[in-house]
Amino acid sequence: MSKNQLDTKSQAWSALFSEPMSELVKRYTASVFFDKRLWQADITASLAHAEMLAHQQIIGAQDLADIQRGMALIWTEIETDQFEWKLDLEDVHLNIEARLTQLVGDAGKRLHTGRSRNDQVATDVRLWLRGEIDLILGLLNDLQQSMVSVAEKNVDVILPGFTHLQVAQPVSFAHHLLAYVEMFARDAERLVDVRRRTNRLPLGSAALAGTTYPLDREHVAKSLRMVDDQGHPQVCQNSLDGVSDRDFAIEFTAAAALCMVHISRLSEELILWMSQNFGFIQIADRFTTGSSIMPQKKNPDVPELARGKTGRVVGHLMGLITLMKGQPLAYNKDNQEDKEPLFDTVDTLKDTLRIFSEMVGGQVNPATGHKEGGIQVKPQAMEAAVKKGYATATDLADYLVKKGLPFRDAHEIVAHAVKAATNHNCDLSELPLSVLQSFHASIDKDVYECLSLQGSLNARNTLGGTAPVQVRAQIARHLQRLAG
Ligand code: ARG
Repeated sequence: MSKNQLDTKSQAWSALFSEPMSELVKRYTASVFFDKRLWQADITASLAHAEMLAHQQIIGAQDLADIQRGMALIWTEIETDQFEWKLDLEDVHLNIEARLTQLVGDAGKRLHTGRSRNDQVATDVRLWLRGEIDLILGLLNDLQQSMVSVAEKNVDVILPGFTHLQVAQPVSFAHHLLAYVEMFARDAERLVDVRRRTNRLPLGSAALAGTTYPLDREHVAKSLRMVDDQGHPQVCQNSLDGVSDRDFAIEFTAAAALCMVHISRLSEELILWMSQNFGFIQIADRFTTGSSIMPQKKNPDVPELARGKTGRVVGHLMGLITLMKGQPLAYNKDNQEDKEPLFDTVDTLKDTLRIFSEMVGGQVNPATGHKEGGIQVKPQAMEAAVKKGYATATDLADYLVKKGLPFRDAHEIVAHAVKAATNHNCDLSELPLSVLQSFHASIDKDVYECLSLQGSLNARNTLGGTAPVQVRAQIARHLQRLAG
């Protein structure tokens, strides 16, 4: 073994240690088998650091060239699965650095000048997460587009709106879907905001106190595109804070958990809607499973799992926030535990968003260029359910108010009308005019317009209401926003 090589971790901190780590402790402290996922960020940040070191004449031009050559080889090795990850080298950082030194000699050993794994790992995680946030924003956009496209086709489909899961008032199915689009739009806004604070450079904080070398941190920030909207470099301004806080990871996980909570609400509705008792929709068979014993079953496994995985992401949020609690400044090894919950949060959210876009909106049929196989809507079942629940009772009350009655009196009169309809086993709109007039003399035949589902919808013509004109305006707004 060459002296230039860093083959085991104890060689990374040298002569001071009189005994090697036990195998168990090695396994316990190593992170390479999960943090190797940061390799691209690690190499990218190392190259930016090396380039700045050369620019500042802290290392020579030849050293930089050697580092760049070595890193290019390592990049290919990892990409083609030929890189040998060593548990002995603890983490992604030491593995890559050791291999670099093996490939290019002394230049590899100069890379760590003015740097520590503490600022290195904080930088890598931020860079990696920034890329993932960008992917997630794209997926959130896809999901919103899917939902808007289903909404477009269902503006005039009416289903019961519920409060307390009791039939309340008729709403447009499109309006119902667009409620989720609003939630996902806010999720995206939150992520854009988290991205801003994630996109700041810890490198240059070194171990905790800064470094004695004349580093140009803003130069590194610019080459890593850690800049604000105006292009100004974003650098962590306090070295102790830069290496130690993981608030950006916590914020991200909180935003992800909220997004999953929204997905889980939608899941719950899909599950209810496709149950025999509702029968409002069908989802494509590929998102369901059968039962090994009951031949008639089609179970909504995908929405159920998404509802379940929400618990998992909320758990990661609790894990991360508890991980940070009580840590003294600056870096502590506790922070190595940030990775698995963060990685799993990203994986879970991405998979969930992808699958929901397709489950709701379908997938593009290459032959037609149109999306097919999304949720199948059953307008008759929805309409039958609204009629069962006297969903236009409020409309009758509003009708009486317009005839001059105080709302509370109107409310009471309508309660009697509903009772009568229940006795006749029919909807309010099916009661004969003479019966309706027996509750109040001001009721005329124009009452049937307001008792109709369409009439009820049309009447809610205020901004954000369920009237089809309003819903169409919202669809247009979303389409424009999502295309932009
Ligand atoms: N693998 C470590 C982590 O994820 C890298 C930083 C280690 N720093 C140290 N001083 N032991 O946090």
